Amino acid sequence: MKQIKVFDTTLRDGEQSPGCSMNLMEKIEMAKQLDRLGVDVIEAGFAIASPMDFKSVQTIAANVTNCKVASLARCTKVDIDAAWEAVKNAKYPRIHVFLATSDIHMEYKLRMTREEVLASISENVAYAKSFCEDIEFSAEDASRSEWSFLARAYTAAIAAGATVINVPDTVGYSTPQEMANLITYLRENVEGIGNVDISVHCHDDLGLAVANTLACIAAGATQVECTVNGIGERAGNASLEEIVMALKTRQDFYQADTNINTKQIYRSSKLLSNITGVPVAPSKSIVGANAFAHESGIHQHGVIANAQTYEIMKSTDVGIPQNTMVLGKHSGKHALRDRLESMGFEVTPEQMEEIFVRFKKLADRKKTITSSDLEALVLNRRRVDNATYDFVSHVVTTGMGVPNTACIKLSRDGEDIQDVAIGTGPLDAAFQVINRLSGMDVTLTNFSLNAVTDGEDAIGEATVKLSCNGKSVTGRGLSTDIIESSIRAYVNGINKLLGGH
Ligand code: KIV
Ligand code: ZN
Repeated sequence: MKQIKVFDTTLRDGEQSPGCSMNLMEKIEMAKQLDRLGVDVIEAGFAIASPMDFKSVQTIAANVTNCKVASLARCTKVDIDAAWEAVKNAKYPRIHVFLATSDIHMEYKLRMTREEVLASISENVAYAKSFCEDIEFSAEDASRSEWSFLARAYTAAIAAGATVINVPDTVGYSTPQEMANLITYLRENVEGIGNVDISVHCHDDLGLAVANTLACIAAGATQVECTVNGIGERAGNASLEEIVMALKTRQDFYQADTNINTKQIYRSSKLLSNITGVPVAPSKSIVGANAFAHESGIHQHGVIANAQTYEIMKSTDVGIPQNTMVLGKHSGKHALRDRLESMGFEVTPEQMEEIFVRFKKLADRKKTITSSDLEALVLNRRRVDNATYDFVSHVVTTGMGVPNTACIKLSRDGEDIQDVAIGTGPLDAAFQVINRLSGMDVTLTNFSLNAVTDGEDAIGEATVKLSCNGKSVTGRGLSTDIIESSIRAYVNGINKLLGGH
Protein backbone atom coordinates (compact mmCIF):
# COMPACT_ATOMS: atom_id res chain seq x y z
CA MET A 1 0.00 0.00 0.00
CA LYS A 2 1.45 3.41 -1.00
CA GLN A 3 1.13 6.22 1.53
CA ILE A 4 0.07 9.49 -0.12
CA LYS A 5 0.81 12.77 1.69
CA VAL A 6 -1.93 15.38 1.72
CA PHE A 7 -0.77 18.98 1.33
CA ASP A 8 -3.69 21.27 2.06
CA THR A 9 -3.65 24.73 0.49
CA THR A 10 -7.13 25.90 1.59
CA LEU A 11 -5.55 28.76 3.53
CA ARG A 12 -3.33 29.90 0.64
CA ASP A 13 -4.58 28.98 -2.86
CA GLY A 14 -8.12 28.50 -1.52
CA GLU A 15 -8.18 31.78 0.33
CA GLN A 16 -7.15 33.56 -2.88
CA SER A 17 -10.53 32.81 -4.46
CA PRO A 18 -13.18 35.54 -4.52
CA GLY A 19 -15.38 35.68 -1.41
CA CYS A 20 -13.18 33.23 0.52
CA SER A 21 -11.00 35.60 2.51
CA MET A 22 -10.73 34.84 6.23
CA ASN A 23 -9.56 36.86 9.21
CA LEU A 24 -6.85 35.72 11.59
CA MET A 25 -9.11 33.94 14.09
CA GLU A 26 -10.95 32.16 11.29
CA LYS A 27 -7.70 30.98 9.73
CA ILE A 28 -6.48 29.64 13.05
CA GLU A 29 -9.74 27.81 13.65
CA MET A 30 -9.59 26.30 10.16
CA ALA A 31 -5.92 25.36 10.60
CA LYS A 32 -6.69 23.52 13.85
CA GLN A 33 -9.48 21.64 12.09
CA LEU A 34 -7.11 20.70 9.23
CA ASP A 35 -4.69 19.38 11.85
CA ARG A 36 -7.49 17.26 13.35
CA LEU A 37 -8.43 16.11 9.86
CA GLY A 38 -4.94 14.69 9.57
CA VAL A 39 -3.43 16.56 6.64
CA ASP A 40 0.34 16.14 6.40
CA VAL A 41 1.10 19.74 5.42
CA ILE A 42 -0.84 22.98 5.82
CA GLU A 43 0.14 25.73 3.41
CA ALA A 44 -0.75 28.56 5.79
CA GLY A 45 -0.28 31.46 3.39
CA PHE A 46 2.08 33.62 1.37
CA ALA A 47 4.08 35.39 4.08
CA ILE A 48 5.43 38.25 1.96
CA ALA A 49 1.99 39.14 0.52
CA SER A 50 0.98 41.45 3.40
CA PRO A 51 1.67 41.95 7.12
CA MET A 52 -1.66 40.21 7.77
CA ASP A 53 -0.63 37.15 5.72
CA PHE A 54 2.69 37.06 7.56
CA LYS A 55 0.94 37.18 10.93
CA SER A 56 -1.47 34.40 10.00
CA VAL A 57 1.31 32.08 8.81
CA GLN A 58 3.28 32.82 11.97
CA THR A 59 0.31 32.27 14.29
CA ILE A 60 -0.75 29.07 12.55
CA ALA A 61 2.84 27.80 12.77
CA ALA A 62 2.72 28.35 16.53
CA ASN A 63 -0.71 26.76 16.98
CA VAL A 64 -0.52 23.59 14.92
CA THR A 65 0.85 20.54 16.64
CA ASN A 66 0.87 17.57 14.30
CA CYS A 67 1.40 18.60 10.71
CA LYS A 68 4.01 20.54 8.79
CA VAL A 69 3.39 24.23 8.15
CA ALA A 70 4.52 25.76 4.86
CA SER A 71 4.68 29.30 3.54
CA LEU A 72 4.81 30.11 -0.14
CA ALA A 73 7.68 32.23 -1.49
CA ARG A 74 8.64 33.44 -4.93
CA CYS A 75 12.17 32.66 -6.02
CA THR A 76 13.66 35.74 -4.33
CA LYS A 77 15.57 36.27 -1.13
CA VAL A 78 13.09 38.74 0.40
CA ASP A 79 10.24 36.27 -0.08
CA ILE A 80 12.28 33.42 1.36
CA ASP A 81 13.36 35.54 4.35
CA ALA A 82 9.70 36.38 5.09
CA ALA A 83 8.59 32.77 4.63
CA TRP A 84 11.27 31.51 7.01
CA GLU A 85 10.56 34.18 9.64
CA ALA A 86 6.89 33.18 9.53
CA VAL A 87 7.32 29.38 9.74
CA LYS A 88 10.49 29.02 11.78
CA ASN A 89 8.62 28.36 15.05
CA ALA A 90 6.51 25.58 13.59
CA LYS A 91 7.18 22.09 14.89
CA TYR A 92 7.81 21.03 11.30
CA PRO A 93 8.49 24.07 9.09
CA ARG A 94 8.60 24.02 5.28
CA ILE A 95 9.46 26.73 2.73
CA HIS A 96 7.65 26.40 -0.60
CA VAL A 97 9.54 28.19 -3.38
CA PHE A 98 8.07 28.58 -6.85
CA LEU A 99 9.12 29.87 -10.26
CA ALA A 100 7.40 29.52 -13.63
CA THR A 101 8.98 27.29 -16.26
CA SER A 102 6.62 27.50 -19.27
CA ASP A 103 7.82 29.52 -22.26
CA ILE A 104 4.80 31.81 -22.11
CA HIS A 105 5.32 32.64 -18.42
CA MET A 106 9.09 33.05 -18.76
CA GLU A 107 8.79 35.36 -21.79
CA TYR A 108 5.81 37.54 -20.84
CA LYS A 109 5.63 37.43 -17.06
CA LEU A 110 9.14 36.84 -15.79
CA ARG A 111 11.03 38.23 -18.80
CA MET A 112 13.77 35.71 -18.07
CA THR A 113 15.66 33.28 -20.29
CA ARG A 114 15.74 29.55 -19.56
CA GLU A 115 19.30 29.79 -18.26
CA GLU A 116 18.35 32.65 -15.94
CA VAL A 117 15.44 30.61 -14.59
CA LEU A 118 17.69 27.62 -13.91
CA ALA A 119 20.25 29.83 -12.17
CA SER A 120 17.56 31.43 -10.02
CA ILE A 121 16.21 28.02 -8.96
CA SER A 122 19.68 26.81 -7.94
CA GLU A 123 20.51 29.98 -6.07
CA ASN A 124 17.19 30.47 -4.26
CA VAL A 125 16.47 26.86 -3.35
CA ALA A 126 19.99 26.70 -1.85
CA TYR A 127 19.28 29.95 0.01
CA ALA A 128 16.02 28.54 1.42
CA LYS A 129 17.86 25.35 2.36
CA SER A 130 20.34 27.38 4.41
CA PHE A 131 17.44 28.04 6.84
CA CYS A 132 15.16 25.05 6.58
CA GLU A 133 15.64 21.34 5.97
CA ASP A 134 12.28 20.83 4.26
CA ILE A 135 12.06 22.68 0.93
CA GLU A 136 9.38 22.27 -1.72
CA PHE A 137 10.01 23.58 -5.21
CA SER A 138 7.14 24.21 -7.63
CA ALA A 139 7.61 24.82 -11.34
CA GLU A 140 4.61 27.05 -11.98
CA ASP A 141 2.71 26.12 -15.17
CA ALA A 142 4.69 22.86 -15.26
CA SER A 143 2.08 21.10 -17.39
CA ARG A 144 2.57 23.62 -20.23
CA SER A 145 6.37 23.66 -19.91
CA GLU A 146 8.69 21.98 -22.37
CA TRP A 147 9.39 18.60 -20.75
CA SER A 148 13.16 18.37 -21.13
CA PHE A 149 13.59 21.90 -19.75
CA LEU A 150 11.21 21.06 -16.91
CA ALA A 151 13.34 18.04 -16.05
CA ARG A 152 16.42 20.29 -15.90
CA ALA A 153 14.56 22.71 -13.60
CA TYR A 154 13.64 19.94 -11.15
CA THR A 155 17.13 18.44 -11.33
CA ALA A 156 18.55 21.86 -10.38
CA ALA A 157 16.07 22.19 -7.49
CA ILE A 158 16.93 18.75 -6.10
CA ALA A 159 20.68 19.41 -6.43
CA ALA A 160 20.17 22.63 -4.44
CA GLY A 161 18.38 20.79 -1.63
CA ALA A 162 14.66 20.49 -2.50
CA THR A 163 12.95 17.64 -0.64
CA VAL A 164 9.68 17.86 -2.59
CA ILE A 165 9.16 18.76 -6.24
CA ASN A 166 5.68 19.92 -7.16
CA VAL A 167 4.15 19.63 -10.63
CA PRO A 168 1.32 22.17 -10.96
CA ASP A 169 -1.30 22.18 -13.68
CA THR A 170 -1.61 25.89 -12.93
CA VAL A 171 -4.28 26.73 -15.49
CA GLY A 172 -6.17 23.43 -15.35
CA TYR A 173 -5.34 22.62 -18.98
CA SER A 174 -4.08 19.05 -18.84
CA THR A 175 -5.86 15.75 -19.21
CA PRO A 176 -5.38 12.79 -16.85
CA GLN A 177 -3.36 10.81 -19.40
CA GLU A 178 -1.08 13.76 -20.13
CA MET A 179 -0.45 14.38 -16.42
CA ALA A 180 0.30 10.71 -15.84
CA ASN A 181 2.69 10.66 -18.83
CA LEU A 182 4.44 13.76 -17.49
CA ILE A 183 4.98 12.16 -14.06
CA THR A 184 6.35 9.02 -15.72
CA TYR A 185 8.68 11.14 -17.88
CA LEU A 186 9.94 13.10 -14.87
CA ARG A 187 10.55 9.93 -12.89
CA GLU A 188 12.78 8.74 -15.72
CA ASN A 189 14.55 12.00 -16.49
CA VAL A 190 15.06 14.03 -13.30
CA GLU A 191 18.29 13.28 -11.44
CA GLY A 192 17.76 12.45 -7.78
CA ILE A 193 13.98 12.19 -8.10
CA GLY A 194 13.98 8.86 -6.26
CA ASN A 195 15.04 10.66 -3.05
CA VAL A 196 12.27 13.29 -2.96
CA ASP A 197 8.50 13.46 -2.85
CA ILE A 198 6.72 14.03 -6.16
CA SER A 199 3.78 16.35 -5.62
CA VAL A 200 0.92 17.38 -7.94
CA HIS A 201 -1.19 20.52 -7.79
CA CYS A 202 -4.14 20.60 -10.17
CA HIS A 203 -6.64 23.35 -10.91
CA ASP A 204 -10.18 22.64 -12.01
CA ASP A 205 -10.73 24.88 -15.05
CA LEU A 206 -11.89 21.92 -17.16
CA GLY A 207 -13.36 20.02 -14.22
CA LEU A 208 -10.43 17.58 -14.33
CA ALA A 209 -8.46 18.50 -11.20
CA VAL A 210 -9.34 15.41 -9.17
CA ALA A 211 -9.07 13.06 -12.17
CA ASN A 212 -5.67 14.55 -13.03
CA THR A 213 -4.49 14.19 -9.42
CA LEU A 214 -5.57 10.56 -9.23
CA ALA A 215 -3.90 9.78 -12.56
CA CYS A 216 -0.66 11.21 -11.19
CA ILE A 217 -0.93 9.03 -8.07
CA ALA A 218 -1.29 5.98 -10.29
CA ALA A 219 1.83 7.16 -12.16
CA GLY A 220 3.90 7.54 -8.97
CA ALA A 221 3.12 10.89 -7.32
CA THR A 222 3.53 10.73 -3.55
CA GLN A 223 1.99 14.04 -2.44
CA VAL A 224 -1.27 15.71 -3.52
CA GLU A 225 -2.11 19.39 -3.17
CA CYS A 226 -5.76 20.18 -2.61
CA THR A 227 -8.32 22.28 -0.77
CA VAL A 228 -11.41 21.60 1.32
CA ASN A 229 -14.56 21.92 -0.82
CA GLY A 230 -12.23 22.44 -3.82
CA ILE A 231 -12.07 26.21 -3.27
CA GLY A 232 -9.32 28.05 -5.10
CA GLU A 233 -8.35 30.41 -7.90
CA ARG A 234 -10.95 30.62 -10.73
CA ALA A 235 -12.71 27.21 -10.90
CA GLY A 236 -10.85 26.02 -7.81
CA ASN A 237 -8.27 23.42 -6.82
CA ALA A 238 -8.59 19.66 -6.60
CA SER A 239 -10.98 18.84 -3.78
CA LEU A 240 -9.40 17.17 -0.75
CA GLU A 241 -12.48 15.16 0.18
CA GLU A 242 -12.91 13.79 -3.36
CA ILE A 243 -9.31 12.65 -3.67
CA VAL A 244 -9.26 11.09 -0.21
CA MET A 245 -12.56 9.26 -0.60
CA ALA A 246 -11.64 8.06 -4.10
CA LEU A 247 -8.46 6.53 -2.69
CA LYS A 248 -10.32 4.98 0.22
CA THR A 249 -13.28 3.69 -1.77
CA ARG A 250 -11.15 2.42 -4.65
CA GLN A 251 -8.22 1.12 -2.64
CA ASP A 252 -8.46 -2.04 -4.75
CA PHE A 253 -7.51 0.06 -7.79
CA TYR A 254 -5.11 2.72 -6.46
CA GLN A 255 -3.45 0.61 -3.72
CA ALA A 256 -2.90 3.87 -1.86
CA ASP A 257 -3.96 5.41 1.42
CA THR A 258 -3.67 8.75 3.25
CA ASN A 259 -3.38 9.81 6.89
CA ILE A 260 -6.74 11.58 6.73
CA ASN A 261 -9.29 10.83 9.44
CA THR A 262 -12.22 10.69 7.04
CA LYS A 263 -14.72 11.14 9.86
CA GLN A 264 -13.52 14.74 10.10
CA ILE A 265 -14.24 15.49 6.43
CA TYR A 266 -17.82 16.69 6.76
CA ARG A 267 -16.98 18.91 9.75
CA SER A 268 -14.06 20.49 7.87
CA SER A 269 -16.28 21.22 4.90
CA LYS A 270 -19.02 22.72 7.10
CA LEU A 271 -16.58 24.84 9.06
CA LEU A 272 -15.03 26.29 5.92
CA SER A 273 -18.36 27.11 4.34
CA ASN A 274 -19.52 28.59 7.60
CA ILE A 275 -16.42 30.77 7.93
CA THR A 276 -16.38 32.00 4.33
CA GLY A 277 -20.13 32.16 3.80
CA VAL A 278 -19.61 30.27 0.53
CA PRO A 279 -22.19 27.48 0.41
CA VAL A 280 -21.46 23.95 -0.78
CA ALA A 281 -23.53 22.96 -3.85
CA PRO A 282 -26.15 20.32 -2.90
CA SER A 283 -24.85 17.95 -5.57
CA LYS A 284 -21.18 18.36 -4.58
CA SER A 285 -19.54 14.94 -4.24
CA ILE A 286 -18.90 13.67 -0.69
CA VAL A 287 -20.03 16.78 1.24
CA GLY A 288 -23.07 18.13 -0.67
CA ALA A 289 -26.47 17.92 1.03
CA ASN A 290 -27.64 15.37 -1.56
CA ALA A 291 -24.46 13.30 -1.73
CA PHE A 292 -25.98 10.51 0.36
CA ALA A 293 -29.70 11.15 -0.23
CA HIS A 294 -31.80 8.66 -2.19
CA GLU A 295 -34.89 10.27 -3.65
CA SER A 296 -36.25 7.94 -6.31
CA GLY A 297 -38.44 5.02 -5.29
CA ILE A 298 -36.29 2.49 -7.14
CA HIS A 299 -33.16 3.66 -5.33
CA GLN A 300 -34.86 3.78 -1.94
CA HIS A 301 -36.16 0.26 -2.42
CA GLY A 302 -32.73 -1.01 -3.40
CA VAL A 303 -30.99 0.69 -0.48
CA ILE A 304 -33.48 -0.70 2.03
CA ALA A 305 -32.99 -4.21 0.63
CA ASN A 306 -29.18 -3.89 0.59
CA ALA A 307 -27.39 -0.54 1.06
CA GLN A 308 -24.66 -1.53 -1.38
CA THR A 309 -27.09 -1.51 -4.32
CA TYR A 310 -26.68 2.26 -4.60
CA GLU A 311 -24.20 3.22 -1.87
CA ILE A 312 -20.47 3.02 -2.45
CA MET A 313 -19.57 4.86 0.77
CA LYS A 314 -21.25 5.31 4.14
CA SER A 315 -22.23 8.82 5.20
CA THR A 316 -20.85 8.04 8.65
CA ASP A 317 -17.41 7.39 7.10
CA VAL A 318 -17.16 11.09 6.26
CA GLY A 319 -18.61 12.12 9.61
CA ILE A 320 -22.11 13.17 8.59
CA PRO A 321 -24.05 13.16 11.88
CA GLN A 322 -27.01 10.84 12.20
CA ASN A 323 -29.85 13.25 12.69
CA THR A 324 -31.45 11.70 15.74
CA MET A 325 -33.20 13.55 18.53
CA VAL A 326 -30.48 14.01 21.07
CA LEU A 327 -31.35 16.36 23.88
CA GLY A 328 -34.19 18.42 25.25
CA LYS A 329 -34.74 21.49 27.39
CA HIS A 330 -34.20 19.54 30.61
CA SER A 331 -30.83 18.18 29.59
CA GLY A 332 -27.89 19.35 31.64
CA LYS A 333 -24.36 20.45 30.87
CA HIS A 334 -22.90 16.96 31.30
CA ALA A 335 -25.28 15.44 28.76
CA LEU A 336 -24.49 18.24 26.34
CA ARG A 337 -20.75 17.86 26.77
CA ASP A 338 -20.96 14.06 26.31
CA ARG A 339 -22.98 14.49 23.17
CA LEU A 340 -20.64 17.10 21.71
CA GLU A 341 -17.65 14.89 22.47
CA SER A 342 -19.30 11.91 20.84
CA MET A 343 -19.80 14.12 17.77
CA GLY A 344 -16.05 14.84 17.77
CA PHE A 345 -16.17 18.47 18.96
CA GLU A 346 -13.47 19.68 21.31
CA VAL A 347 -14.75 22.56 23.43
CA THR A 348 -12.94 24.37 26.20
CA PRO A 349 -14.77 24.97 29.53
CA GLU A 350 -15.31 28.66 28.60
CA GLN A 351 -16.74 27.72 25.20
CA MET A 352 -18.94 25.15 26.93
CA GLU A 353 -20.46 27.83 29.17
CA GLU A 354 -21.36 29.93 26.17
CA ILE A 355 -22.69 27.01 24.12
CA PHE A 356 -24.80 25.86 27.06
CA VAL A 357 -26.51 29.25 27.35
CA ARG A 358 -27.26 29.18 23.62
CA PHE A 359 -28.43 25.57 23.89
CA LYS A 360 -30.94 26.47 26.64
CA LYS A 361 -32.27 29.41 24.64
CA LEU A 362 -32.68 27.18 21.61
CA ALA A 363 -34.34 24.43 23.65
CA ASP A 364 -36.94 26.98 24.78
CA ARG A 365 -37.84 27.65 21.18
CA LYS A 366 -37.46 24.23 19.57
CA LYS A 367 -39.30 21.08 20.48
CA THR A 368 -36.47 18.69 19.70
CA ILE A 369 -32.77 19.37 19.43
CA THR A 370 -30.97 17.22 16.87
CA SER A 371 -27.31 16.62 16.05
CA SER A 372 -27.61 19.17 13.23
CA ASP A 373 -28.93 21.76 15.69
CA LEU A 374 -25.98 21.12 18.00
CA GLU A 375 -23.57 21.28 15.11
CA ALA A 376 -25.02 24.66 14.08
CA LEU A 377 -24.70 25.93 17.66
CA VAL A 378 -21.06 24.94 17.89
CA LEU A 379 -20.04 26.07 14.43
CA ASN A 380 -21.71 29.43 14.96
CA ARG A 381 -20.40 30.07 18.43
CA ARG A 382 -17.60 32.28 17.11
CA ARG A 383 -18.36 35.68 18.50
CA VAL A 384 -16.13 38.55 17.53
CA ASP A 385 -13.49 39.16 20.18
CA ASN A 386 -13.34 42.84 21.16
CA ALA A 387 -16.84 43.36 19.72
CA THR A 388 -18.00 46.96 19.85
CA TYR A 389 -21.72 46.23 19.53
CA ASP A 390 -24.01 43.61 21.05
CA PHE A 391 -27.47 42.95 19.71
CA VAL A 392 -30.11 43.45 22.41
CA SER A 393 -33.61 43.41 20.86
CA HIS A 394 -35.67 44.22 17.81
CA VAL A 395 -39.24 45.04 16.81
CA VAL A 396 -40.03 44.86 13.12
CA THR A 397 -43.35 45.55 11.44
CA THR A 398 -43.97 44.46 7.91
CA GLY A 399 -46.93 43.76 5.64
CA MET A 400 -48.68 44.66 2.37
CA GLY A 401 -49.54 48.32 1.99
CA VAL A 402 -47.99 49.38 5.30
CA PRO A 403 -44.54 50.89 5.85
CA ASN A 404 -41.81 48.44 6.85
CA THR A 405 -40.30 49.68 10.05
CA ALA A 406 -37.61 48.44 12.39
CA CYS A 407 -36.70 49.48 15.90
CA ILE A 408 -33.36 48.01 17.01
CA LYS A 409 -31.63 48.17 20.34
CA LEU A 410 -27.87 47.56 20.50
CA SER A 411 -25.46 47.85 23.34
CA ARG A 412 -22.21 49.77 22.85
CA ASP A 413 -19.64 49.35 25.63
CA GLY A 414 -22.42 48.32 28.01
CA GLU A 415 -24.71 51.25 27.17
CA ASP A 416 -27.99 50.66 25.33
CA ILE A 417 -28.66 52.67 22.19
CA GLN A 418 -31.66 52.42 19.88
CA ASP A 419 -33.21 53.95 16.79
CA VAL A 420 -36.01 53.43 14.26
CA ALA A 421 -36.09 53.46 10.44
CA ILE A 422 -38.48 52.86 7.55
CA GLY A 423 -37.22 50.76 4.65
CA THR A 424 -38.25 49.05 1.44
CA GLY A 425 -38.49 45.82 3.42
CA PRO A 426 -38.04 44.75 7.05
CA LEU A 427 -34.37 43.92 6.62
CA ASP A 428 -33.62 47.11 4.72
CA ALA A 429 -35.21 49.02 7.62
CA ALA A 430 -33.24 47.00 10.20
CA PHE A 431 -29.90 47.42 8.41
CA GLN A 432 -30.51 51.17 8.05
CA VAL A 433 -30.96 51.46 11.81
CA ILE A 434 -27.72 49.59 12.48
CA ASN A 435 -25.84 51.81 10.00
CA ARG A 436 -27.23 54.87 11.70
CA LEU A 437 -26.42 53.64 15.20
CA SER A 438 -22.87 52.76 14.22
CA GLY A 439 -22.42 55.91 12.13
CA MET A 440 -20.84 53.78 9.41
CA ASP A 441 -21.34 53.95 5.65
CA VAL A 442 -21.61 50.22 5.07
CA THR A 443 -22.54 48.55 1.77
CA LEU A 444 -24.29 45.19 1.83
CA THR A 445 -22.78 43.30 -1.12
CA ASN A 446 -24.35 39.92 -0.52
CA PHE A 447 -27.02 38.36 1.63
CA SER A 448 -28.08 34.74 1.96
CA LEU A 449 -30.29 32.75 4.26
CA ASN A 450 -30.13 28.99 4.72
CA ALA A 451 -32.05 26.57 6.86
CA VAL A 452 -29.25 24.68 8.60
CA THR A 453 -31.55 22.15 10.26
CA ASP A 454 -34.82 20.49 9.23
CA GLY A 455 -38.45 21.03 10.17
CA GLU A 456 -40.77 23.94 10.67
CA ASP A 457 -38.74 25.18 13.63
CA ALA A 458 -35.48 24.92 11.69
CA ILE A 459 -32.52 27.14 12.54
CA GLY A 460 -31.94 29.80 9.88
CA GLU A 461 -28.41 30.98 9.24
CA ALA A 462 -27.98 34.40 7.69
CA THR A 463 -24.74 35.39 5.98
CA VAL A 464 -23.97 38.96 4.95
CA LYS A 465 -21.00 40.32 3.07
CA LEU A 466 -20.33 43.92 4.07
CA SER A 467 -17.82 46.40 2.78
CA CYS A 468 -16.71 49.76 4.11
CA ASN A 469 -13.68 51.88 3.19
CA GLY A 470 -12.20 49.12 1.02
CA LYS A 471 -12.49 46.44 3.71
CA SER A 472 -14.80 43.45 3.15
CA VAL A 473 -16.03 41.01 5.78
CA THR A 474 -18.48 38.15 6.19
CA GLY A 475 -20.97 38.34 9.05
CA ARG A 476 -23.08 35.45 10.29
CA GLY A 477 -26.08 35.08 12.53
CA LEU A 478 -28.15 32.18 13.72
CA SER A 479 -31.68 31.94 15.06
CA THR A 480 -34.96 30.13 14.56
CA ASP A 481 -36.27 33.61 13.65
CA ILE A 482 -34.91 34.66 10.27
CA ILE A 483 -35.17 38.40 10.93
CA GLU A 484 -33.18 37.96 14.12
CA SER A 485 -30.52 35.83 12.38
CA SER A 486 -30.19 38.53 9.69
CA ILE A 487 -29.78 41.31 12.26
CA ARG A 488 -27.26 39.22 14.19
CA ALA A 489 -25.30 38.61 10.98
CA TYR A 490 -25.23 42.34 10.20
CA VAL A 491 -24.05 43.27 13.70
CA ASN A 492 -21.42 40.52 13.52
CA GLY A 493 -20.18 42.02 10.22
CA ILE A 494 -20.10 45.56 11.66
CA ASN A 495 -18.00 44.35 14.59
CA LYS A 496 -15.55 42.73 12.20
CA LEU A 497 -15.35 45.92 10.14
CA LEU A 498 -14.51 47.77 13.33
CA GLY A 499 -11.47 45.56 13.77
CA GLY A 500 -12.78 42.86 16.08
CA HIS A 501 -11.58 39.44 15.09
O1 KIV B 1 -1.24 26.91 -9.32
C1 KIV B 1 -0.03 27.05 -9.08
O2 KIV B 1 0.83 26.89 -9.94
C2 KIV B 1 0.36 27.41 -7.73
C3 KIV B 1 1.81 27.33 -7.40
C4 KIV B 1 2.26 28.50 -6.60
C5 KIV B 1 2.11 26.03 -6.72
O3 KIV B 1 -0.50 27.67 -6.90
ZN1 ZN C 1 -2.49 26.86 -7.55
